[in-house]
Amino acid sequence: MSEAFTKSMARNIFYGGSLFFILLFLALTVDTHTAVPERSNADQLTPKVAKGKEVWEEHDCIGCHTLLGEGAYYAPELGNVYTRRGPAFIKSWIKTQPTGAPGRRQMPHFDLTEAELDALVAFLKWTDEIDTAEWPPNVEG
Ligand code: HEC
Repeated sequence: MSEAFTKSMARNIFYGGSLFFILLFLALTVDTHTAVPERSNADQLTPKVAKGKEVWEEHDCIGCHTLLGEGAYYAPELGNVYTRRGPAFIKSWIKTQPTGAPGRRQMPHFDLTEAELDALVAFLKWTDEIDTAEWPPNVEG
């Protein structure tokens, strides 16, 4: 059996295999680039959403939270917090921090104006509406 496996067979497997996976990689790249724009909600980016992102960045929310999986793992995922809690809860939650509840991690108090809170909510709504192919799989994030 081992004599039957020649150098040229090994070479053909190497080149054939490489070519197959290069073509597969190219096909998947083209597929991704076609699918992503169809799923985009970039046309719903309003100045309010942009303002909300600024507030989000200024106060380093990502330093504790994740947003669609990116960020720090100290506090809950917020990519789907809009569905989970809704706008009124999000605003009053931020206003009433820290809770001081024993045994729970605490979120600091941020002194935000009504306009900043509304913008943050608009930003979190927008991120919630990104088509992430059903990820995360449950509303608790
Ligand atoms: C120092 C860490 C820290 C920072 C910074 C922080 N948070 Fe939090 N946040 C927390 C913790 C911890 C919780 C969960 C507390 C609990 O469940 O008792 C939380 C919870 C929340 C919740 C409720 C989530 C849910 O599922 O009910 C929202 C909304 C939220 N944070 C928004 C924000 C926003 C917006 C910012 C930026 C302005 C921010 N957080 C910055 C620590 C942080």
